[in-house]
Amino acid sequence: MVGCADEYPQSSINPHTDFAEVIHSLYVSIFWWTMLIMAVVWILLAWVLVKYRRKSEDEQPRQIRGHLGMEIAWTVGPALIVIAIAIPTIQAVFATQRPVSDDAMVVEVTGHQFWWEFHYPEQGITTANELWLPVDRPVNLRLASNDVIHSFWVPKLGGKRDLNPVPAVREGQDPKYNWLYFTPQQTGVYMGQCAEFCGQSHALMAMRVIVESDEGFDDWVDRWFASEGAAAPEVQEEAEDEAELQMAGVVQEEEGTGVQVAEDEDPLVAMGRDAFLNATCIACHAVEGTSAQGIIAPNLTLFGARKTLGAGIMENNQENLVRWIIDPQGIKAAAAMPGTDYAGGNWPATGLSDEEVGAIAAYLLSLK
Ligand code: CUA
Repeated sequence: MVGCADEYPQSSINPHTDFAEVIHSLYVSIFWWTMLIMAVVWILLAWVLVKYRRKSEDEQPRQIRGHLGMEIAWTVGPALIVIAIAIPTIQAVFATQRPVSDDAMVVEVTGHQFWWEFHYPEQGITTANELWLPVDRPVNLRLASNDVIHSFWVPKLGGKRDLNPVPAVREGQDPKYNWLYFTPQQTGVYMGQCAEFCGQSHALMAMRVIVESDEGFDDWVDRWFASEGAAAPEVQEEAEDEAELQMAGVVQEEEGTGVQVAEDEDPLVAMGRDAFLNATCIACHAVEGTSAQGIIAPNLTLFGARKTLGAGIMENNQENLVRWIIDPQGIKAAAAMPGTDYAGGNWPATGLSDEEVGAIAAYLLSLK
């Protein structure tokens, strides 16, 4: 009964792409064939039970040893059933492996223990855990892994398809990738999950796919490049003289702290930016338009626009983010991020104070 509902976030019987529809129609047709076989078996069983039931106390059923007709029937019957299932299955395999159309948008998906990286070569964007796609435009996902095998699975959109580590190749040869090609047919938010056991926190490697209208997607791209640049004093410093900016009232120095605060900016956010950019955070994380350009951990540009945290495992809010920065490995075993008082991912403890953690969280949540 539970399986019959179609409004679950990760339902595979509620397809929203051409790819998922191929899988779904295969599933539905095989389902009805098995229903037909079940009906035939049950009717035969009922008929045998009635016809050959014991009619008197001393009656013995007729004893049969070896029956050529039956032997042939139960060999040929299942063989025909397997063939009947194989034909549409092979058709579906070819349909979901077909060549990509030229107008497809490429997104390079990289699996990490335990998060997702999405790189858009066309737009020059690298983001994490929340994949934005425009509706009705074919997308071609290039799947690879940074460590062990992961598997991309967003049941309403398509998959599962593995993300394999890409072995080094000789010069002039192309590395071999898995590709996943589909066209989202409806705007919405789709939940996905790593579907290949990849270590301690495999179960905590979720993702969200946000399918937007063309305008919504373009707006996201625009916001991506405008996000920090507009508000961050660091960037303005590059263009103009700091003292000039201070005179013009665009940035002011907060008394005694040395922290640059842009006009109309929450001092906590400014303090968080300062703490973030001066901590080891930036060795691994990037924020577009700032000096944070780390590439080995999730890119945090527009982080405040993300609805979830830690690869889809919890709501993205101040309270959870503070918990995460203090103790990521307590929330997600074997996460590569160091905590405030323990090392992680070859980096020492961050040693951030509670005040700094709160400010950094406020800063990251302001990025939207
Ligand atoms: Cu990644 Cu399981």
